[in-house]
Amino acid sequence: MNFADPWVTQDSKASSESFSDNNNSTPAAISEHIPPPNNAAAVPADPTSTTIVATDSLEFEDNFIPEQPPLNPRQPQDNRLPDSDNYLATLEKRLHRLRTNPGVLQQLAERREACMQSLLGGDVALRTDADLELEEPVNSNELLRFIRPEQALSQAEVVQLVQHDQLQLEADEQEEPREGEESGTESSTKSATPIMSSETVTSTTTPAATQPAATTTTAVNLEQVAYFLVTGASRGIGAKMAIETARKFKAGSVVVLLARSASGLESTRAEILAVNPHVTVVTSSVDLATASKELLNEILDKSLGKQPTDRFGLACVIHNVGTVGNIGRKATDLDDRTEWEQYFGTNVFTVAVLNSCFLRKFQSVPGKLVINITSKACLVPFQSMTYYCAGKAAREMYFRVLAEEEAAAGVTVLNYSPGPVDTDMTVDLQANSNAPEIRDYFKGLRDTTTILTTDQTTAKFLHILQNGLFKSGDHVDYYDH
Ligand SMILES: NC(=O)c1ccc[n+]([C@@H]2O[C@H](COP(=O)([O-])OP(=O)(O)OC[C@H]3O[C@@H](n4cnc5c(N)ncnc54)[C@H](OP(=O)(O)O)[C@@H]3O)[C@@H](O)[C@H]2O)c1
Repeated sequence: MNFADPWVTQDSKASSESFSDNNNSTPAAISEHIPPPNNAAAVPADPTSTTIVATDSLEFEDNFIPEQPPLNPRQPQDNRLPDSDNYLATLEKRLHRLRTNPGVLQQLAERREACMQSLLGGDVALRTDADLELEEPVNSNELLRFIRPEQALSQAEVVQLVQHDQLQLEADEQEEPREGEESGTESSTKSATPIMSSETVTSTTTPAATQPAATTTTAVNLEQVAYFLVTGASRGIGAKMAIETARKFKAGSVVVLLARSASGLESTRAEILAVNPHVTVVTSSVDLATASKELLNEILDKSLGKQPTDRFGLACVIHNVGTVGNIGRKATDLDDRTEWEQYFGTNVFTVAVLNSCFLRKFQSVPGKLVINITSKACLVPFQSMTYYCAGKAAREMYFRVLAEEEAAAGVTVLNYSPGPVDTDMTVDLQANSNAPEIRDYFKGLRDTTTILTTDQTTAKFLHILQNGLFKSGDHVDYYDH
């Protein structure tokens, strides 16, 4: 099964096991490596397997199947190989040496170091191009290829990827302004780029004809007076992001929290004020499935009161609200139009409408930052998650178009995919998905405590944001950095 939400992009052993397809991949993999019992002809023929016949000559030396007593009376009578006693004795001796000699690990470390040195020193004979068998498959497993889809399947593709990376590197190097070319003067392009921090650099010494576009950073300076709105802020990822981001704002900032649960919002509000008492926190209990444009504008207006919007250096919205939808039914059974409309209402339509209201209201603010909390499910289909995958895909594409269209208006967009996080949403998936792989996957993550916490994903989000590790419109996953 092709399962790998951010939820699946982590490369733990648990996840690779959870997502192997028991019906397909496992038997195939086994048949490649393990020969059939002693006599393949005696095994009922499997019409789908050609491997069994082909592997008749590849049996293990000792296949553990009793045979006739050996002709040679000096051989042990229990079908062991003649030298098995010696072999076991040697192993015992080595084990004993390992146990009693504390220097063994040290020796191994030294041996490893020597190997590394010899590799780096180029003593090892490398294969030349002529030796390369281009069709030879590369030994990367399926999970690895999912995590990094650009993994090569064959040696020929490795060559292409390396070439591509090199060209990209050269292009990046050419774009980087050389030392001494930086100018402290503000360029006319400045207002047309998503400037979030003072680190924006514009080359002014390059001749006009060849002058590259202004090089900007998307790094966000959160230590300013900000207007900050978070949807789905009553619990889970939204609550944690609201608290940890608001912690950094300067006095006079306004934080607006939306969700249905008034008590959940109140507890997030209290936590924000505990870490930053100098901000104003406004909560609004609203059902985003049906909220109208008028209602959303009213919420924005009320939160501002009489304050002019240009008093803020940064206007930031986190579109975090999200529901997983009906996960008890397959795509073919989703024939209820009202249910579709309700799902898309919460997860796509209101998100887009609120975003319009927000950007219109804060046009005059120099730094405009739009965050969409997305998911690997917008890129990869997962059984039982039709609504979620379709909604996330539509939503992310909306934000990608926005990034293209509004770059010149100083809007920066980040689609952040938080990874598999321990929240009510994943509890629901683990308990109620109609796909056993999905239930097992989250169970595996919880059993092995490899599921992420809201703290972890929020810290990564802030790291990406503050260091500008994205281009406007990018989809950035927790596991990307
Ligand atoms: N958890 C993960 O592993 C994971 C992975 C990838 C992406 N994500 C995304 O991260 C975001 C947050 O997910 P989460 O795991 O934190 O989910 P969660 O714990 O279920 O929280 C969802 C939030 O959305 C709010 N909400 C739901 N329906 C609403 C409605 N009709 N009107 C207003 N607010 C509503 C909820 O508040 P009320 O119930 O109080 O309204 C809650 O605050 C979602 O967009 C999700 O798709 C999560």
